[in-house]
Amino acid sequence: MKVIITSDKSNGSKKGFEIFEKSIANGAKVIGLATGSTPVALYQEWVKSDMDTSNLTSINLDEYVGLAPDNDQSYHYFMQKYLFNEKPFKKTYVPDGIKAIKDPEGASDDYNKIIAENPIDIQLLGIGRNGHIAFNEPGTSFDSVTHEVKLTDNTIKANSRFFDNIDDVPKTAICMGIANIMSAKEIVVMAFGDNKADAVAKMVEGPVTEDVPASVLQQHQNVTVIVDQAAASKLS
Ligand code: F6R
Repeated sequence: MKVIITSDKSNGSKKGFEIFEKSIANGAKVIGLATGSTPVALYQEWVKSDMDTSNLTSINLDEYVGLAPDNDQSYHYFMQKYLFNEKPFKKTYVPDGIKAIKDPEGASDDYNKIIAENPIDIQLLGIGRNGHIAFNEPGTSFDSVTHEVKLTDNTIKANSRFFDNIDDVPKTAICMGIANIMSAKEIVVMAFGDNKADAVAKMVEGPVTEDVPASVLQQHQNVTVIVDQAAASKLS
């Protein structure tokens, strides 16, 4: 793993965007995208840029079960707001959170097919404080593919900051599995702030274990980790 320590989130996000720019200039066409607070500044760099995205396909990591694309807490909506409204892609994919209400397996199978037909060239990831990637919580099999996930109380609590009421946070999500993420040719993980320091140290230097989903990335050939000083503070 290559680790880049930047002075702050703003510089880290610029660095992250440069990696995407370079990869796209070198022919990457299928871009794996993430939501959450971490990638927002990178998307702002993207929107400011003059990059033509009309030939690109995007595949997002996850979506809440039960939220329609026009729900302002859905990940569909997030992506429209922060990136796609300004930078239209040729095709964008986010798991179908409505189909998943009645048919989570069907929604998951559809997504695995989409990923198989559109192999991901470069994947953006954030990391949870417990080392989760996408909604793959500790204990998720490294062999997992897209599946329905029951969100942990901690994740529901962390994500409740985006909702009016913690009871409004969906209890399940459809999420790419670890094997889908590992199939990307290149991966960029970003983490900022001291509340990510433990997870970053375990991801980069800890044992590779399903107890820390992000530790699997040590087994990938082309991963860049971008952290600020605070998130890097527990690296040796
Ligand atoms: C987002 C996602 C999550 C987040 C992680 C960190 O699509 O899948 O794994 O990357 O929870 O969230 P933030 O960036 O809000 O700290």
